[in-house]
Amino acid sequence: MRRKLAAGNWKMNGIGANLAELESLATAHANAGVDILICPPATLLHRAAEVAKDTSIRIGGQDCHANASGAHTGDISAQMLADTGATAVIVGHSERREDHDERNEDARAKAKAAIDAGLTAVICLGESLAQREAANTLDIIAGQMSGSIPDLATGENVVIAYEPIWAIGTGKVPTLEQIGEVHDFIRARLERRFGEGVGRSVRLLYGGSVKPGNAADIFAVPNVDGALVGGASLTAADFSPIITALE
Ligand code: G3P
Repeated sequence: MRRKLAAGNWKMNGIGANLAELESLATAHANAGVDILICPPATLLHRAAEVAKDTSIRIGGQDCHANASGAHTGDISAQMLADTGATAVIVGHSERREDHDERNEDARAKAKAAIDAGLTAVICLGESLAQREAANTLDIIAGQMSGSIPDLATGENVVIAYEPIWAIGTGKVPTLEQIGEVHDFIRARLERRFGEGVGRSVRLLYGGSVKPGNAADIFAVPNVDGALVGGASLTAADFSPIITALE
């Protein structure tokens, strides 16, 4: 049985004062029936981990370098994330792919580095609007899966987030049928590549304009094990009802 996961990606938002939102979340969900992960900017990781200590909230990074250490100015390794108290890291987000020209092989190497460092790798996939309109979504997802997901011995330390690029921050959400089609497709391919046991244990998140008002419907779609939430994860007032909808 896969444990549900409500994950928040703060992206490049948040300063120290925003950690009060974490305190509110921790209080509201002291006995959460689902996993809760918040990925703040790297500058807040250490303090966020302190706030989240002994609560139901886990902290994660938004990116990591594929190497453990070395001459990579400005980068952060998976081991360094773990050292802050983080237990997970997002890799291959479409904004990293777009802003930093990251490719599938980069996401794969980062995911492997994360797993090797004892973190859960949250690997992001998703098609552009042009790819969706050209009816290429499943081919794109298949290619991203082959390229971005490393070989897995277990599904416990990997989470896949399906985030259609055109739904991120736009208020546009795919139909429930479209979400279900892609999630079923991802599940089937995971089972084919890694076997039923591993394939069924990987959690699949939907991401892209998840809000308190649409979360329950999205969570009712088979093979949706939770959400990766951007804008609506920034405040406890928005994220808390999303967590509750998942419970
Ligand atoms: O990683 C989460 C994200 O890309 C979705 O962002 O703001 O549409 O929830 P948002």
